[in-house]
Amino acid sequence: MSLTPALPRTADAALVPGWPTGSILLGCDYNPEQWDRAIWRDDIRLMRELGVDLVAINIFGWAHLEPRDGEFDFSGLDEIMSLLHEAGIRVNLGTGTASPPPWLSRLHPEILPRDRDGVIAYPGGRQAWCPSSPVFRARALALVERVAERYGEHPALALWHVSNELGCHNAYCYCDVSAEAFRGWLRARYGSIEALNAAWGTAFWSQRYSEWADVLPPRTTLSAGNPAQKLDFERFSSDEQLAHYRAEAEVLRRRSAAPVTTNLMVTDHIRALDYWSWTGDLDVIANDHYLDHRLADPLAELAFSADLTRGLADGAPWMLMETSTSAVSWQPVNHAKREGELARTVLGHVARGADSICFFQWRASQRGAEKFHSALLPHAGAAGPGWQRSVELSALLDRLEPVVGTRVEARAAMVIGWQERWAAEVDTHPTQLLQYLPEARRYHAALRALGVTVDMVRPGDDLAGYDLVVVPTLYSVTDAAAASIARAAADGATVLVTPFSGLADEQAAIRLGGYPGAFRDLLGIVVDELRPLAADDRVALEGGATGVIWSEALRTEHAEVLDRFATGPAAGQPAVTRAAHGAGAAWYVATALEADGLRDLMRRLCGEAGIPVIEVGDDVDVVVRSADDRRIAFVINHRDEPVEIASPALIGLDLVAGTAVAGPATIVPAGGVVAVLSERSEP
Ligand code: GAL
Repeated sequence: MSLTPALPRTADAALVPGWPTGSILLGCDYNPEQWDRAIWRDDIRLMRELGVDLVAINIFGWAHLEPRDGEFDFSGLDEIMSLLHEAGIRVNLGTGTASPPPWLSRLHPEILPRDRDGVIAYPGGRQAWCPSSPVFRARALALVERVAERYGEHPALALWHVSNELGCHNAYCYCDVSAEAFRGWLRARYGSIEALNAAWGTAFWSQRYSEWADVLPPRTTLSAGNPAQKLDFERFSSDEQLAHYRAEAEVLRRRSAAPVTTNLMVTDHIRALDYWSWTGDLDVIANDHYLDHRLADPLAELAFSADLTRGLADGAPWMLMETSTSAVSWQPVNHAKREGELARTVLGHVARGADSICFFQWRASQRGAEKFHSALLPHAGAAGPGWQRSVELSALLDRLEPVVGTRVEARAAMVIGWQERWAAEVDTHPTQLLQYLPEARRYHAALRALGVTVDMVRPGDDLAGYDLVVVPTLYSVTDAAAASIARAAADGATVLVTPFSGLADEQAAIRLGGYPGAFRDLLGIVVDELRPLAADDRVALEGGATGVIWSEALRTEHAEVLDRFATGPAAGQPAVTRAAHGAGAAWYVATALEADGLRDLMRRLCGEAGIPVIEVGDDVDVVVRSADDRRIAFVINHRDEPVEIASPALIGLDLVAGTAVAGPATIVPAGGVVAVLSERSEP
């Protein structure tokens, strides 16, 4: 990596397309406050040796910058900023507000968040602050003012890093201050208590509110709570975190021209933030991603997350703000990465659009809750194999320079959203087994196994240009989003809608007149009854596929029946249908097909959509990035056996090995090829 990457000096994201440019950037979090000053110079020398371009500091700086109420000490941060600058390393400067110092909640215990049972979260961990607390906000902004004033023009400053993983732990607060803020949010949304009553359906169970003062966050109830209240609380909670981000960003933009961002968590276990509504405020889209070994298929989740992050970036290159060189320290079993797995997972992010790869963290902590978390510089120091792994990774990123600025090619899209997840995953729905993200990921994984890359699109956004559109479990859908999906089919796309879609509006009220509500005309079907399956039930389809989780009694209106349930509670009923719609078609599948049947279905859909498939199977990524003058194919084989790739024919230069390839190619077990394709290699 070059030590002085071309980083933007403007807060106007439109002026910095494809930030950062120049090279694939290597970065890391650095927590020098955990170490003696004597170590800092060594650290920075090793960072230079490794080719680190960008260092995130001051993420958890508050207790050091303001050790006592109103008493500030910037000497440590001044020194680190200077040392990094002298070394030619740019800074991703934290505002320092992620975790307040313990003295703040001693003086102002009202800033501590409460869960739905009223239990207070205390300092001792991190992020112990109520997102709606005006006291916390004022104190945090006062710190940001000072940090921005002091470093806003600093020559080392490349990027502002607001707080840290906003909403990771404190997304939902149910305290009285939050309750008041929630009421304010609801007033702005509904205008009157009558409108709120109508939207929430409070005629049910005597829940009608006569005054705003009676409205509460969804605290613990004896029976199931009101789903519309919960949905609005999710929206409110996401908006509160965004409001905090905006407040800090406003201070920074007033005092500095550097771009502003924060690290998002586009990942399975964080569901609280609707990032589609955040993107307009971020100058750089940055994601934190760690392999999650609690999931059945962590690599499929990585691919999904990376594609969704690219969707947030509107297709532009994005930044992986945090990942790990090996194990993390917060899962029940923290798996070390296997030989070569670091390179393959990093390539997986780059393939799907990342142009910057940053690690948590630079030096493994000696103390604290993350001391067993891997780092670029492990406990053993710069002598052992851990450091060597970092050196090899840095060299790999250097070789990927031709990738910078290219964009991912995709002809398939998936319509996906956080609000839609909140609305779909409710405890009083027909089944708890149909989960929004896992279900969406199954369709994504089936396409990935066919070598088909998927763009992620916000519900309601224009789908023009996509040949295949997958719409998983879109239970709650606005009229506008339903219309954009129908328009895609009318314009020639093949659309697939999956079970439990279209039934409700954006307030989670059922659309009357027959399921699947918003999609009934498009799909040409009526669902007479939802017939979910027990956890260990499996139904057979006449065509040989099997389904789990879901079945339903379905009639066609103007759709053709392509397959039927052979067994189970919907035996004899249509299971796969297709309706011609304008220049395209709308397909529906009435169960959660198991892997083989699902892949067959996706193969058929790709065939109709004219999208070429590459039969690579599970655990292989095939993605092409391109610019006007070049196409670059990523083939990453995460398996323990070789993979044959016929198309795209890998004819050109292999950036991983540094040698020529003349495909069709065999990708070695647990190996990868990134080929800059020559002219002859067009599939
Ligand atoms: C992130 C966080 C980092 C560090 C990392 C460990 O959630 O932003 O501060 O805790 O996880 O994996």
